[in-house]
Amino acid sequence: MSVDEYVLDTPRLRGFVDEVRAAIEASGSPAEACERIRPGFEQLLADAGWLPAQFQEAAPESGMGGGIGQWLLFRAGDGSLSLFSLVVPPGAQTPVHDHLAWGLVGLYRGTQDEEVFAPDGGALRLVDERALVPGDFYALLPPQDDIHRVRTTSPETSVSIHLLTNDTGCVWRHAYDPDTGEQSPFRSGYVNVDCENGAS
Ligand SMILES: [Fe+2]
Repeated sequence: MSVDEYVLDTPRLRGFVDEVRAAIEASGSPAEACERIRPGFEQLLADAGWLPAQFQEAAPESGMGGGIGQWLLFRAGDGSLSLFSLVVPPGAQTPVHDHLAWGLVGLYRGTQDEEVFAPDGGALRLVDERALVPGDFYALLPPQDDIHRVRTTSPETSVSIHLLTNDTGCVWRHAYDPDTGEQSPFRSGYVNVDCENGAS
């Protein structure tokens, strides 16, 4: 069994991960766990000091395209939890994609427009559009609202923080053509670590 990986190894981050694990352990459902995690996540988004600049940099060669960087901060050895920053340069947007895991997602820097899609008879239907500012966050509870794309609307790069209950950068997910709904296999990867166990 693999061990936990703290790419950003600080007492602040270890404390947060310990809180998250305790919340999950004490909860009977993902929704309940998200409620318990919310206060700590909100503090993380409000704290300007814990995330080093290197994890807020764009990444020209990334798997997301557009210079979008997905930086791993922590992942559990058993693949049950990951924390990462997603850095989207001004004007760039992600592919339409899913996540296949529940968790919390929030904006740390910059502003974004988010479009949320739902499957609709083989196609995709736009079900929500939101403008996000720093401190905004939501619980992601798939399959509800699991398909989206985000675009940076600020003149500065946007940075969002993702706490999800899989190894999001390394699992095979789906990207979608928003016009036809056609799916394709999608693995975003991380800028700063490899996906060693690529099987399944
Ligand atoms: Fe996403």
